[in-house]
Amino acid sequence: MDDQPLKGIRLVLTAGPTRESLDPVRYITNHSSGRMGFAIAESAARQGADVTLVAGPVSLPTPNGVQRVDVETAEDMQKAVDEALTNGTDWFVATAAVADYRPVTRSESKIKKNKDSAPVIELQQNPDILASVAARKQNRPFTVGFAAETNNVSDYAKDKLKRKNLDMIVANDVSAPDIGFNSDRNAVEVFWEGGSQKYDARSKTELATDLLTLIHKRSRA
Ligand code: PMT
Repeated sequence: MDDQPLKGIRLVLTAGPTRESLDPVRYITNHSSGRMGFAIAESAARQGADVTLVAGPVSLPTPNGVQRVDVETAEDMQKAVDEALTNGTDWFVATAAVADYRPVTRSESKIKKNKDSAPVIELQQNPDILASVAARKQNRPFTVGFAAETNNVSDYAKDKLKRKNLDMIVANDVSAPDIGFNSDRNAVEVFWEGGSQKYDARSKTELATDLLTLIHKRSRA
């Protein structure tokens, strides 16, 4: 059996959360640990792919054979993805939980507590990295998104598939505590135009390999 089925494939992926600072000591972020994305990077490299992993702030070791770029904010992540995507990139997989908003201003010094009033934090939208890759007119890789949802999981995921013009979306129910965010296991349903595939709960390592097999098949369909 071929133990390097992804030899010749160039994969760029995002993983982990982004961190949007309010001041030098406080920030907005989410519960992503990066484990799902790192498991995909690890499996892809083991199967022979050339892998660039753009990672938000996480505490995970770099998988063997993977080129890693560490970033903090969504804007940093967008820049790193643009630099990593070359003419020859075959697949882009966005597992990162990118903050949709960032504070309009970042204070250079710690915001002091005011005992008479609570501060109002004004937010602005971050760039949508996945949608910008999918919108490319030239050198567009096979583009796969993840959708982290707590309710109406399949409907919201299918809506993102269409709205962001993706080739595939992996719907992730993050309401259950033992799968999804910050856990070793995950259960997902993958959608593409005209089809779907469900994966019951299993380790993120096993799911990563299953998803790569599906991406390989669908990208050649
Ligand atoms: O990291 P773990 O702890 O292992 O958890 C895994 C996970 C639950 C984080 C992961 O599997 C997952 O579901 N990732 C997507 C999280 C998310 O932010 O979903 P979303 O529905 O908000 O975003 C949809 C897609 O657009 C995602 O592919 C996201 O990477 C991308 N996006 C979103 C906003 C933005 N500004 N730029 C983006 O690229």
